[in-house]
Amino acid sequence: MSWRDYWNRETNTIYVNALHSKLHDDLVARGIAGLLTAPAGDVLDYGCGDASEADLVAGKCAKLYLYDAAPNVRARLARRFTGRETIALVEDEALSSIPGASLDLIVVNSVLQYVAPPDFEALLDRFHGKLKPAGRLVLADIVSPDTGAVDDTKALLSFAWEGGFFVAAVVGLARTFFSDYRSLRARYGLTRYREAEMLGLLTKHAFNGKRVKPNIGHNQARMMFVATPA
Ligand SMILES: C[S@@+](CC[C@H](N)C(=O)[O-])C[C@H]1O[C@@H](n2cnc3c(N)ncnc32)[C@H](O)[C@@H]1O
Repeated sequence: MSWRDYWNRETNTIYVNALHSKLHDDLVARGIAGLLTAPAGDVLDYGCGDASEADLVAGKCAKLYLYDAAPNVRARLARRFTGRETIALVEDEALSSIPGASLDLIVVNSVLQYVAPPDFEALLDRFHGKLKPAGRLVLADIVSPDTGAVDDTKALLSFAWEGGFFVAAVVGLARTFFSDYRSLRARYGLTRYREAEMLGLLTKHAFNGKRVKPNIGHNQARMMFVATPA
């Protein structure tokens, strides 16, 4: 099983219950909405997952494109969002339905830890071609080699405490400990970048980037970068 297979499954142990899923999707949607500036523009949420709160973001965009690599996630997105005027579902990895130089914002949240470095470099070039000259690329929830599962656990438990699903989170962590996620994490690891390394890659692929705080989502041990075409 690869990371792609993992995310293509109908259920996973990452979200410990429906409340966790809902609070997570809501926090991410509010984080993305907070990045939007008027006037409304065209936005791509790359590796969007189920994005159950995407209407909140779409309400502030001219068009919101959603893309996820997992076919089962795309099928769920189609069931949920087909027919929405401002949401466009992207089917292919090449993003061929998105015109070149048309996007005001691309958000990639909590995805790059599952992407091999050479594939990420290819993605940076693809994103560059899709952004307007003044468009922004936001890479969020980037895992550093200096943090580990303990930091992720602490962040989840504190999010769960505030969200009212602490007991479910403890049970969920135990489930995750015995799950495919943990064996995949042990086998393939997560792709990690130091701040300087990420800034170097952005420069190499013709972006001006900087680290920005806070990170989208609940885990402030992870990093967010904002970049514009150089
Ligand atoms: C942790 S979830 C994050 C989902 C969403 N961005 C969020 O913040 O809630 C990771 C998602 O990345 C997707 N993914 C993994 N590798 C990808 C790739 N190479 N291209 C696009 N999506 C990918 C997975 O299918 C999964 O839905």
